[in-house]
Amino acid sequence: MSYKEIYHRSIQDREGFWREQAQELSWYQFPNTILSKNENGLYRWFEDGMLNMSYLCLDFHIEQGRGEQVAIIYDSPATGNVQKFTYNQVKTQVAKLAGVLSSLQVVKGDTVVIYMPMIPEAVIAMLACARIGATHSVVFGGFAPHELAIRIDDAKPKIIISANYGIEFDKRIEYKPLLDRAIDESSHKPQNTIIVEREGMTIDYKDNYDLPYNQLMSNAKEAEPVEVNSTHPLYILYTSGTTGKPKGIVRDTGGYATALKFSMSHIYNANPGDTFWSASDVGWVVGHSYIVYGPLIHGCTTVLFEGKPIRTPDAGTFWRVIAEYKVNTFFTAPTAIRAIKKEDPDGELMKKYNLSSLNLIFLAGERCDPATFEWLGEKTKKPVIDHWWQTESGWPMLGIQYGDEKLSAKSGSSNFPICGYEIDILDDDGNKLDRKEEGFVSVKLPMPPGTLMDLWQDTENFKSSYLSKFDGYYLSGDGGYIDEDGYYFIMGRIDDVINVAGHRLSTGEMEEILAAHPAIAECAVIGVEDELRGQRPIGFIVLKDGQDKTENQLEEETIAMVREKIGAVAFYRNTILVKRLPKTRSGKILRKTMRLIADGKPFAVPSTIDDPSILEEIRERMKDRKLSLAFE
Ligand code: COA
Ligand code: AMP
Repeated sequence: MSYKEIYHRSIQDREGFWREQAQELSWYQFPNTILSKNENGLYRWFEDGMLNMSYLCLDFHIEQGRGEQVAIIYDSPATGNVQKFTYNQVKTQVAKLAGVLSSLQVVKGDTVVIYMPMIPEAVIAMLACARIGATHSVVFGGFAPHELAIRIDDAKPKIIISANYGIEFDKRIEYKPLLDRAIDESSHKPQNTIIVEREGMTIDYKDNYDLPYNQLMSNAKEAEPVEVNSTHPLYILYTSGTTGKPKGIVRDTGGYATALKFSMSHIYNANPGDTFWSASDVGWVVGHSYIVYGPLIHGCTTVLFEGKPIRTPDAGTFWRVIAEYKVNTFFTAPTAIRAIKKEDPDGELMKKYNLSSLNLIFLAGERCDPATFEWLGEKTKKPVIDHWWQTESGWPMLGIQYGDEKLSAKSGSSNFPICGYEIDILDDDGNKLDRKEEGFVSVKLPMPPGTLMDLWQDTENFKSSYLSKFDGYYLSGDGGYIDEDGYYFIMGRIDDVINVAGHRLSTGEMEEILAAHPAIAECAVIGVEDELRGQRPIGFIVLKDGQDKTENQLEEETIAMVREKIGAVAFYRNTILVKRLPKTRSGKILRKTMRLIADGKPFAVPSTIDDPSILEEIRERMKDRKLSLAFE
């Protein structure tokens, strides 16, 4: 069948289509009900099906004879360590850790926070939770204790699993002191922590509270998978919204498993036994879906890479991993490719490696500029596909899907809707826009399986954030358009969310942090274009009356505040002192106009502005300080 035929069927006969896809999995009880609504009017997939994600990712493949196939290749240029784990070995470790959790009275329905670097134990921890029906919440290791504390208070974990340290290039990040600070700050106190002790650093354990992973594992009894309902929350993954409170995206089990299985064949064109490498971090949705659950559900070998695209040791490291492990499908973020391109523009390092195993390269996480897309295709001579998705969707919404015909990806575009996603571009009043007109990228309800079920214990916020703007649609938060050939272009966020080096961050949260500075009367943080990271935040501040701090002092102090509260990953480096912020007569800060000025783009002076002269001040200050590409 052609892509168009498959796609149309997925929209016209949603239940029939996804029932068939669900049959690709081994359920304890196949669902009778395919699509339904819960008591809050929210869609649910496969409501009465019973399954277990850890069984599907491990035991099932062992039963099918894949026990001795490598499941995880751990490659750590950071430590010089390479380890390969077969499906049998991973299953044993997962079952043991599940046994440890059970012995600590973790039961189905409990939550466990995982705050870990990119080590195999992080994957084992996720699967161990899934095995006993505990809902995990992985927190990206680059977040500061304050961010971790917010998530602990929201998810209320019984246990936190962490490690003694992570590595960023050649710098050790000590996790245990960060974890201790987060637990001090949070109101909810977990019952225990479990700490993986990597070689080379001993830590202070609080007796009977911090439990050493290795010691627990040496006495552990293996636990069997527990049957859970399809709608059982496999995980909560917090993502930045427009305020300081991150959104706890809740993922179900059965819908997600079905969608991932479908995506592995139909989007990534992967076969069981293939090697799949997603160069992301387990702390992001890409890590959840395509380091851990997707490749393992499909019987692939997944690569867990503890390194960076450059300087570990050089910009050839990605190509070395692909050649060494005969990677068939590779997924990364445009920032990583920009970093490699900057250091190895002619692809000389790439030429040292045999990339013949590689079939397809996928990009996502942020907008990919055409120059990066084209460079990658030209140098690797492989098909490159930019595809679009979010923490909320859990798997791709736009991309190239396999059918009988060969569709080609268009530079700058995230291509076409994937099965089950009916994607329209709407104007502010919810009317469908014509081709080439930019508007709100919105997905018609019901969304396909695997997409977010709800926000963790906050259905009202779920409805108001995503479902209330346009009746019958999910609001993605992105702006974009469809071109004359039907290709979709995602142009960036239309809210206070930015993407810095593929990391999703909230400028709204940064504003809340800056506003707490005693000398600052008001502020606005916007994302400006950045050559390497795609975007980076810049803050504009107005002083309180009587304050006489200099811009330099304020810059230093606000940088420290953002680093302390969110983490270095926010990459907040610049604060600009202005006399006033541009506002409408009703007091709304004109952030969009500020962004256009900062990026040197044409803008219309809004008719509602109270004082147009302030726009010129913003432009002059950006120019003085050469703070964006437009003014360098
Ligand atoms: N733990 C602790 N700190 C982290 C971290 C982590 N997991 N990730 C980033 N940081 C820190 C960095 O060490 C750096 O700290 P510093 O200011 O003290 O030097 C800061 O956050 C900014 O990091 P980053 O913006 O990533 O810059 P970098 O110079 O360290 O690395 C790249 C630049 C391009 C190599 C890196 O950003 C990269 O690999 N990007 C691709 C990311 C990606 O794949 N994202 C996709 C997720 S789906
Ligand atoms: P996250 O939830 O961290 O995965 O970030 C999701 C956001 O990243 C989206 O809402 C987009 O703004 C952006 N994004 C992800 N993939 C793409 C893409 N292929 N093109 C443009 N933007 C993207």
